[in-house]
Amino acid sequence: MNKNSKKRIGILTGGGDCPGLNAVIRAAVKSALNLGWEVIGIREGFEGLIDTSKTEMITSQNIKGILNVGGTILGTTNRGNPFIARKEINGKVVEVDSSDKVVENFKKLGLDALLVIGGDGTLGIAEKFVDKGIPIVGVPKTIDNDLSSTVITFGFDTAVSIATEALDRLHPTAESHRRTMVVETMGRYAGWIALNSGVSGGADIILIPEIPFDIDKVCKAVEKRYSNKSNFAIVVVAEGAKQKSGELFVKQGKESGKEHPVLGGVAEWLCKEIQSKTGRESRFISLGHLQRGGNPTTFDRLLGTRFGACAIRFISENTTGIMVASSPPGMKAVPLKEAISKLKNVPTDCDTIISAKQMGISFGD
Ligand code: F6P
Repeated sequence: MNKNSKKRIGILTGGGDCPGLNAVIRAAVKSALNLGWEVIGIREGFEGLIDTSKTEMITSQNIKGILNVGGTILGTTNRGNPFIARKEINGKVVEVDSSDKVVENFKKLGLDALLVIGGDGTLGIAEKFVDKGIPIVGVPKTIDNDLSSTVITFGFDTAVSIATEALDRLHPTAESHRRTMVVETMGRYAGWIALNSGVSGGADIILIPEIPFDIDKVCKAVEKRYSNKSNFAIVVVAEGAKQKSGELFVKQGKESGKEHPVLGGVAEWLCKEIQSKTGRESRFISLGHLQRGGNPTTFDRLLGTRFGACAIRFISENTTGIMVASSPPGMKAVPLKEAISKLKNVPTDCDTIISAKQMGISFGD
């Protein structure tokens, strides 16, 4: 790749969708077209590089009106690992390594570089293709905010805003019925969404994976809330939270063929426990994919736009094999290997937790 030469790049989105993906795509396409480059959209993550009928030239027409729209115009999948692609052979599903096909198609499409927008799973796959010689720039995408080498990921702010709004809506119904509401948030093995929405939405108890909880302490905190003349309680629990001696709540294991097991169910279990141990009428709700749907917040549109534009700057400088990371006030390039090596968990001594505890919010510990 020559610096400043006319390039043809591919863009794909992988893993779960995330508000702000379209803002990244739009910014990258606009920046690339302004340099006179060509952009090939690759649909459904790396699957579009196994089956090239899932690719198309992206023009300015394709990106009109998408800045504020949720989802991804390129489609995505969290089952798309070409190194262990699932294929049906003679009625049996088997795993085959289609990674050479991806490299072959990358060359056939005449691509100079690939922009991969994804979370730890997708960027992990991208990193393996860097080793196979594909020049890749990654952009971190996840509502979970769990990538350690970027200060923040786009989508997180939207997810927290949606969860906070849900808590605002649950307060009056909990109060009217004198109930305990248990609200489950996403976030996988990190408690960022639960913590930030819980504090912003006025929760009484917040349970996160980083602080394993004791169910008796949770029930005590519920009772304390009622005895303080508040006739209701709000519990926010991250899907990855577990008891001190307990296991993760898993809905679907690795057999699903996904990059990660699907977590969920902790709110339902907690709700039953609280009701039976305290006698307080309780209800649970899992916010699920609502946290990923809908329009991105202003913050995520801006962050996504900056990520997309910066990715093109790095490609134009031939800085590849890296992930664009937010490093306020700017952006920086982090080697992909390093970017995916560690998850970012909530530090248990962070200011938000200290402040929450100071106000009497229980973490069930
Ligand atoms: O990583 C994003 C995320 O939304 C997690 O918070 C959640 O555990 C998972 O994806 C759900 O994935 P799926 O789309 O497979 O339901």
